[in-house]
This record gives sequence, structure tokens and C-alpha cells, in this order.
Amino acid sequence: MAGTAVGIDIGGTGIKGALVDLASGDLLTDRIKLPTPKGGKPDAILATTVELMNQLQGLDPDAPVGVCFPAVVKHGVTLSAANISKKWIGLHAEELFETALGRDITFANDADAAGYAEASFGAARGVDGVAIMTTLGTGIGTAILHNGVLVPNAELGHLEIDGHDIETRASNAARERDGLSWSEWAERLQKFYRALEVYLSPDLFIVGGGISKQHSQFLPLLQLTTPIVPAVHRNNAGILGAAALAVRTIPPLN
Ligand code: BGC
Repeated sequence: MAGTAVGIDIGGTGIKGALVDLASGDLLTDRIKLPTPKGGKPDAILATTVELMNQLQGLDPDAPVGVCFPAVVKHGVTLSAANISKKWIGLHAEELFETALGRDITFANDADAAGYAEASFGAARGVDGVAIMTTLGTGIGTAILHNGVLVPNAELGHLEIDGHDIETRASNAARERDGLSWSEWAERLQKFYRALEVYLSPDLFIVGGGISKQHSQFLPLLQLTTPIVPAVHRNNAGILGAAALAVRTIPPLN
């Protein structure tokens, strides 16, 4: 069973990667972060990912590699592109990354990777029942975990609420764009989390994304019956989860 794997997290602003210790969830190398090429087109992202791998010094050439990406990923194909170049839609992205990197990879949605990281090393570890990971960033990513097992490709950030794709109203980017106060943003978040409660009866919500560092400003304003907690891993969640998914050595939690 592999004890280490490389995790690479492709995002709208940065492409990040590191070698991960899968027992502890610690990073074993510096985290390398390169800016996402403007426009996020496939060739440019592939080239930047290769550059990032080259910068990760001293890697075992056989280390498993996981890559996570901000789109629905089904059998290696990217099926959506909410906040990246539309050119990704319908591409066999997993194969493209494998060809560019010259090795096999595991390829997954970014929120799924973040949720898996929290189930393996963070706030959802050992949680009985349904935990829902939500990442509040440029978009809203979601992952559903049942007793630690991931149900992939939940796109709950695109629920239509009050006639809007909720991600366009309640993401952190929407908060910034609309200059919302914490309480104004919390009103929008309330509708989102309440809808998730009604439809999925979760046991726990986990809130990730860089803004979750400031959780004390907005989580206490929400009125929910489900406990809601900040993620343990914010900026590294995608890296950790992609690495963990690459080997799935983490035993089922229940
Ligand atoms: C995408 C999801 C992604 C999330 C976070 C959404 O717009 O549809 O696939 O997980 O953004 O990046």
C-alpha cells in the first residue's frame, strides 16, 4: 500500500501541487503554486501542470498521482465548465493529463477531492451518516459522503433557488462582486444550506474554501438544524484529496 502520493489541484486562479503523506495528510514537499494560464484553455493548463510536476523535486517516478479539476468528471471526461474555459467540455481530460505527464493519474472533481480530504484527514473523519462538503470560492463546489464513502459529482452549487443558479448568488465571488456584508451574504447562504437540509437530511455540513478561515463572521448567522463546521484543510484540501483518491489506501471509515 502506497504511503505517499502526489496531489494536484487545478483551479481558476492557481494550479497547486505537493507530495502527500497519506497516513497523516501532511505535505512532504513544499507546496508549488503556479498561476492558472489566462483563459484556462486545455493546452495551457496541461503545460503548466507538467511544469509544476517538474518543479516537485525528488519525486519517486512511480508515485501515484491524483489530479482534481473544477468540473463534472465522468469516466475521465470533463462534462462541464462553469468557471473555466468551455473548451474543456467533452474532452477526455484524464487521458490528456496522462499523455502530458507521461504517467497514469486518478482524475476527479475538485470538491469531491476536498470532501474526500476532509473524510480522510479532517472534519468529516469518522462521521456517521451523510456529510456534505461545500467549498465557497469562485463557484460553489459540493461533495456528498456517506459513512466516508464519496458519491461523486454532486453539483448542488447549481441548485436553482429563487430563479437563480445559487452559485452565482452565494459563492464567495458573488459576495465580493456584490459588496455584501456578512449578514447579507449569510441570508443567501441560509437559503442554500436550508435547501440542502430539506432535500438531503445531512448529518453534517463542512464549509471549505479560503473564506472559511473567517467562518466566525458568517457561520453563527445561519439557522440550521444540521451542525455546520469549517473545513480543517482549506487551501490544501484539493491536493490532499486528489492524492488520497489516487490510492484509496484510507480504509472505509465505517
Ligand atoms: C463546478 C463544480 C466545481 C465547483 C468548485 C462549480 O462551478 O460546477 O464542478 O466543483 O465550481 O470549483
